Amino acid sequence: MTNILVTGGAGFIGSNFLNLFVPRYPEHNFINFDKLTYAANLLNLKSTKNLSNYTFEQGDIANYDRVIEIFEKYNPDIVVHFAAESHVDRSILGPSEFVQTNIIGTFNLLEVCRKNWSDSLKRNKLFHHVSTDEVYGSLSLNNTNLFTEITPYAPHSPYSASKASSDHLVRAYYHTYGIPIKITNCSNNYGPYQFPEKLIPLMILNALNNKPLPVYGKGENIRDWLYVEDHCEAIWTVIQKGNIGETYNIGGNNEWKNIDIVNKICDILSVELKKNPLPFKKLITFVKDRLGHDLRYAIDSTKIKSELHWQPRETFETGLKKTIKWYLSNQKWVDSIKTGEYKKWIDINYYRR
Ligand code: NAD
Ligand code: TYD
Repeated sequence: MTNILVTGGAGFIGSNFLNLFVPRYPEHNFINFDKLTYAANLLNLKSTKNLSNYTFEQGDIANYDRVIEIFEKYNPDIVVHFAAESHVDRSILGPSEFVQTNIIGTFNLLEVCRKNWSDSLKRNKLFHHVSTDEVYGSLSLNNTNLFTEITPYAPHSPYSASKASSDHLVRAYYHTYGIPIKITNCSNNYGPYQFPEKLIPLMILNALNNKPLPVYGKGENIRDWLYVEDHCEAIWTVIQKGNIGETYNIGGNNEWKNIDIVNKICDILSVELKKNPLPFKKLITFVKDRLGHDLRYAIDSTKIKSELHWQPRETFETGLKKTIKWYLSNQKWVDSIKTGEYKKWIDINYYRR
C-alpha cells in the first residue's frame, strides 16, 4: 500500500483528484490534509468520504508542528501538494494569507520531507508540487512563444509571486537536498466544485440568481482553459511516469477572451433552461479592471504530450456544457456556498463599478 498525502483535497482541484483516484486505486491510501478555508467544502467529497482507503485530517500546512504530526502518523510515500490560497483578486485585497500558506506552508512540507526522508528512503518517495502558469507572467496578443518549462519566471500578482516562490523552494530542495520532486504548472481550470469567485462558476451562479455579470475592463483578457479532470489525469500521469526533478506544463490549447466565455455561458444556460439568452446577456456589466491584470496566459504542453502521452479528453464545448449542467443539478452544493463568502464576494465585485 502506498500512502498518498493530498494537501488541499477539499478544494476545487484536490477534491476532483480524490474523487477520481480514491475509488480507482483501492490499493493506495489517500489522506486529505486540509485547513477547510472558505474555498473548501466537504460536500465535494460525499461520494468518496466513506471509502476505506480515504482519511480526512483537518489542519494548516503553515503550522509546522501539525505537519510533523501528520507525517509521523501516516508516513506518506507521496505528497501531492494542492493546498493554497488560489484567487488573484483576494491576493490583491490581502496578500498575507498567500505568503503564509503558499510560501511558508510549502516550506514546512519540504522541511518535514527533508527531515523524514533519509537517503535510503528517498528512492521510493515523491513530493509532487501543483502550480500554475501564472508564474510565467503575461503574454502579448501576438506572441507565438507560449509558456514552456524554460520560460523565465515573471510573476505579477501577489498570488503568482507566492506560487513562484513555492516553485523555487521546491526546486531548491531537489538540487540541494535531493528531495525527489516533480512540478506541474497548469493553465486555468474549470469544472464541478469550483468556488464561485472564479470567472466561470461566478458567471453561472450570478446569471441564475439574476445578479450582474462583472466583466473586468473590456473583457479582452485571455486565458487558456482546461477541464479539471483533464488536469487531474495529467498530474497522475506525471506522478507515475514523469522524471524526478522535472517540470511539466499542462494546458488546454484553448484560449478564450473573457467576454466570449461569458456570452457562451449565457448561450448554454439559455439552451439548458429553454429560455431567451438576452435577459442573461443584459446582466453583463463592465466593471473597473483588476489591478495589474495580466493580459494573456497560454501554455505549450508539448513536453507532457510527447514524453508522457497525456492528452485532454474534453473539448471546451463538452467541458463547459458538463460544468453548467453540474451547477444546475447540484442545488444542495450551491445552497451550501450561497451565503457567507460567495455573497460577500458578489458584493465586493458589485462595488467595483
Ligand atoms: P481552491 O482554493 O479551490 O482550494 C484550495 C484548498 O486548499 C482548500 O480546500 C483550502 O481549504 C486548502 N487550504 C488553503 N490553505 C490551507 C492551509 N494553510 N493548510 C491546509 N489547507 C489549506 O484551489 P484550487 O483551485 O483547487 O487550486 C489547487 C492548487 O492548484 C493550488 O495550488 C493552485 O495554485 C493550483 N492551480 C489552480 C488552478 C486553477 O485554475 N484553479 C490552475 C493551476 C494551478
Ligand atoms: P479568475 O477565474 O480569477 O482566474 P485567474 O485570474 O487566475 O486567471 O479570472 C479569469 C479571468 O476572468 C481573468 O482575466 C479575470 C477575469 N474575471 C472577470 O472579468 N470577472 C470576474 O468576476 C472574475 C472573477 C474574473
